[in-house]
Amino acid sequence: MRSKLKLASIVGARPQFIKMAAISRAILRHNQATAAEDLPVLEHTIVHTGQHYDDNMSALFFEQLEIPSPDYNLNVGSDTHARQTAHMLIGLEEVLGRNRPDFVILYGDTNSTLAGAIAASKLRFEEQSPGGRRSPVIAHVEAGMRSFVRTMPEEINRVVTDRLSELLFCSSEAAVENLAAEGIVKGVHNVGDVMLDTLVYYVKRAREFSTVLERLESVRSGLRDEGFFVATVHRAENTDDPARLRAIMAGLGKLRRTVVFPAHPRVQKMLGEYGIEPGPNLLVIDPVGYLDMVALVSSAEAVFTDSGGLQKEAYILKVPCATLRAETEWIELVDAGWNVLVDTDGEAMLAVAEDVETIRRREHPDFYGDGEASDRIVQIIAASR
Ligand code: UD1
Ligand code: UDP
Repeated sequence: MRSKLKLASIVGARPQFIKMAAISRAILRHNQATAAEDLPVLEHTIVHTGQHYDDNMSALFFEQLEIPSPDYNLNVGSDTHARQTAHMLIGLEEVLGRNRPDFVILYGDTNSTLAGAIAASKLRFEEQSPGGRRSPVIAHVEAGMRSFVRTMPEEINRVVTDRLSELLFCSSEAAVENLAAEGIVKGVHNVGDVMLDTLVYYVKRAREFSTVLERLESVRSGLRDEGFFVATVHRAENTDDPARLRAIMAGLGKLRRTVVFPAHPRVQKMLGEYGIEPGPNLLVIDPVGYLDMVALVSSAEAVFTDSGGLQKEAYILKVPCATLRAETEWIELVDAGWNVLVDTDGEAMLAVAEDVETIRRREHPDFYGDGEASDRIVQIIAASR
C-alpha cells in the first residue's frame, strides 16, 4: 500500500483561493501521475478561516476555480486585527490538532497566513514511531515579498510567516534576494508564481465564457468600442485614509474613459462613510468572479490598482498598470516599465492612461516562471519527508 502524506492548506481571503486553486490541481496531478510509483499519496485538507465570507468574495471562487469545498470553515468573519487573528488561532489549533498534518501550506500575506504560521509552529503531535513528537512542516507560498513598510499589516504577516516557515516558495528572484538579506537561505526555492498557473489555466475559459462585457455594455453602451480602464482599491492605507481615497477617486474621475471599478466591500463601505461620490466616468460594480475579472483585465486599456495580484495579472495579460501606492513588492514590473507607481497623483494616472501604447511596446520578460510553479511546489513537498 502507498504511504500517505497529509497536507493542510490554510486560506481565508480571495487571493488565497486563487493561489490554492493551482496547488489543489497540482496535488491531484501528482497523485494520478505517481499512482504506479512507490511515492506517497498526498491527502489535501482545506481549512477556510472565514476571513472573507460574502458569496462574491469566497464561494464563487471555490465554484469557478473548481476547488473542493473546505473541509473546515472557522467562520471568523471580520474584526480588528488582533481579534480576528485570535479567533483564527483558537480554531486552527483545534482543527490542526485533530487533523495532524505533515505539512501546513500558507499563502501570501493575510491575517489567515499569519494565524496559520503561529498556530502550526506551536503544534507538537505525539507519535508512537521513533522521534516521539513532531511538528508540521510549514510551507509558505509567495514567500519573501517585502514592501519594507512596517505600518502595512501584510508586511508584518509576511515577515513573521517567513521566519516560521521551513519551505519558502518564492515567485520571483527579488523575493529570494529579500530572504537572503534577512539571512534566510535554507529551504528557499524560486519556483515561479502560482497565480500565473491559475491564470494560464483559466484565461481561455474566461475569454470564451465570461459575459461581463455584454452585461456592462447594457448599462454603459459603447464600452468596448471606446475602450475602458479597470480599477480596484482595497488596501487599508488607501481605504481608511479619507484624503488618500479622495485623491485616488478624483484622479480616476479625470481619466478620459470609462473606469470599470469592481469595488471590494471595504472600499464600498468607506466611500459611503466619507461621502465620496465617484465621478461619472466610473462604473462602480460589486466584486466580480475570477473569470469576469480576467475577461475585464484582458480587454482593458490599462489597470489602476493597489492590489498585489492584479499587478501581476495585468503584466501577464500585457496590460499596462498604474499602482495606487508609493511602493510595490513586484519591483521587477516597475523596472521593466510596465508598472508605474502613481500613488494618489492624478496627473501621474493621466500620464499612464496617455502612455498605454508606448508601454505595451516595451520588452516583456517572463518574470514569474512558466505556469508550472504549483507542480514544482508539490514535488518538493512530496520529496521532503
Ligand atoms: C485582506 C488582507 C489583504 C488582502 C485582501 C484581499 C489582511 C490584513 N488583509 O484585506 O492583504 O489583499 O484581504 O482581498 O489580512 N468584508 C465584507 N465581506 C467579506 C470580507 C470583508 O464585507 O466577505 C468587509 C468587512 O467590512 C471587513 C472589511 O471588508 O471589515 C475588510 O476585510 P478584511 O478581511 O479584514 O481585510 P481586507 O481589506 O479584505
Ligand atoms: N479579483 C477578482 N474579482 C474582483 C477583484 C479581484 O476575481 O472583483 C481577483 C484578481 O483578478 C486577483 C485577485 O482577485 O486574482 C486579487 O485579490 P485582491 O486584490 O483582493 O488581493 P491582493 O492580491 O491585493 O492580496
